[in-house]
Amino acid sequence: MTFDRSIKIAPSILSSDFANFGAEIRAIEDQGCDWVHVDIMDGHFVPNLTFGPATCKAIRPHIRTVMDVHLMIAPVDPFIEAFAEAGADIITAHIEAGPHIHRTLQAIRATGKKAGIAINPGTPADAVRPVLDLADMICVMTVNPGFGGQKFIHSQIDKVRSLRDMIGDRPVLIEIDGGITPETAPLVAAAGADVLVAGSAVFSGGSVAKPDVYGKNIAAIRAAAEAA
Ligand code: DX5
Ligand code: ZN
Repeated sequence: MTFDRSIKIAPSILSSDFANFGAEIRAIEDQGCDWVHVDIMDGHFVPNLTFGPATCKAIRPHIRTVMDVHLMIAPVDPFIEAFAEAGADIITAHIEAGPHIHRTLQAIRATGKKAGIAINPGTPADAVRPVLDLADMICVMTVNPGFGGQKFIHSQIDKVRSLRDMIGDRPVLIEIDGGITPETAPLVAAAGADVLVAGSAVFSGGSVAKPDVYGKNIAAIRAAAEAA
């Protein structure tokens, strides 16, 4: 797994055809994505439902790159083992999902997986400072989690800058999730982002029958970010 500071594009399969995950994943990987972002929603922490570890396990053999699992669930801890066994490479939990993020990060690392902390738009950067050494990645939400296709929240760019500063030379990546397009990608890349999640901006206009559209969408986001 490449876990360095080069720009990585991570399409969210939340915007893909749910009846065809295997082919969708093959298409985005063939078209040059770096990671596959998998959104898990519980209808409680966020007002939407997706799927759980059984689906992750089923799609895992179709992923050749990195399975980046974003848990929008509460509680988190009872399910960590199941997502690890399903083949996640990175497991990201929300700091707002409960009072014990320190324990959660320890539990994720105990499975041998990379540990991410996601923070909602209303949560300050400072909230992650005490647990920075237990994290491999901070996921900055640039929309309120729950749905694809929402508008990028510009006030989060300063937070990305503060986090990059706070991280210093620690081996911690910054991921951005929500509203990423060729227009918003350079703003967060310039502020210090490494991983760009994109759902609608990758999948719109394309399909497994028209995968070159995915390729053009991925390339446009990457080029805009790298030019920043
Ligand atoms: C939002 C999810 C995102 C979402 C991104 O709750 O965590 O990963 O699918 O979708 P876009 O890129 O359409 O904002
Ligand atoms: Zn996500």
